[in-house]
Amino acid sequence: MNAIEPRTDLQDEASLQLDANGKLRHLLTLKGLDKGLLIDMLDDAEGYLTAPGSQPARSRVLAGRTVANLFFEASTRTRASFDLAGKRLGADVLNLDVNTSSRKKGESILDTIYTLEAMQVDVMVVRDASAGVPAYIARHVLDHVSILNAGESDVSHPTQGLLDVLTIRQHKDSFENLAVAIVGDIRHSRVAMSTSQALTTLGVGELRLISPAVLAPDPESVPGAIISDNLKEGIRDADVVMALRIQRERIGNLDGIPGIDEYFANFGISHESMMHAKPDAIVMHPGPMNRGIEIEGSLADGPRSVITRQVTNGVAVRMAVLDRVGKTMAAR
Ligand code: CP
Repeated sequence: MNAIEPRTDLQDEASLQLDANGKLRHLLTLKGLDKGLLIDMLDDAEGYLTAPGSQPARSRVLAGRTVANLFFEASTRTRASFDLAGKRLGADVLNLDVNTSSRKKGESILDTIYTLEAMQVDVMVVRDASAGVPAYIARHVLDHVSILNAGESDVSHPTQGLLDVLTIRQHKDSFENLAVAIVGDIRHSRVAMSTSQALTTLGVGELRLISPAVLAPDPESVPGAIISDNLKEGIRDADVVMALRIQRERIGNLDGIPGIDEYFANFGISHESMMHAKPDAIVMHPGPMNRGIEIEGSLADGPRSVITRQVTNGVAVRMAVLDRVGKTMAAR
């Protein structure tokens, strides 16, 4: 596949995603996103949730629009939920099979994008292993097209960040009084980045990022966070504990990464390690999970776990984001 242009203007992403009237046109990052807009999207997502066992919420807000899912990296949750979200809002949804697409014949990503634009695609949902791809595409599409970042290298996964803070908001009273511990491979995790950014914008009391030293983040990428390699101290009296898997697909050299047993003993979220968190602490995981490595299976399936709730919220959040960019489109 063709290389993209160097990423030179990261700081412009937050402003690039708003149109001239300050409305959301693209969702590229949660960094720098206005707190009011973030809360509005969480409120909108709540409106797309229905009681368990009842039919999912539907609307025709995207009737006549076309959404294309372009996943140049593997996905279950994000891809399936964008697919369902688009259909439940009345859009035509195209899931491009990247493995049989002409990108395999050397077509550039922009030629793929221009081809879909010519087919009157309105929204492109993009996941890619390279940093900068969603913003790069956003800078090249026609004025009426929206780009939604569905996972960008180790940089950003904004809809995951939204669904994570929505899930926390549903279980806890106020962000200001919360201690949130994110545990695992922070360095390579776009989820850690976006969820941390959302929590910071919402004024979380304490954000703790816990990992083996070799998987610790660059402190400048997470201003204000407490970075620790001590699980027991890191989750002490935490209200929320989120486990992350080791992102092996983004780690070139596995030297220094603890083996499975050592990792689980020192960084695994288990019934035993959760004894250090608050008694009412919730357990989260963005998925996919590696049971017995970063999380004990019976804890993930138990009453403290809100992992399936995260998945449910993922559809609602993606409906809220699609709805919002659809309304921005309609107002043009
Ligand atoms: N959490 C998440 O992004 O999962 P998928 O890779 O399955 O989409």
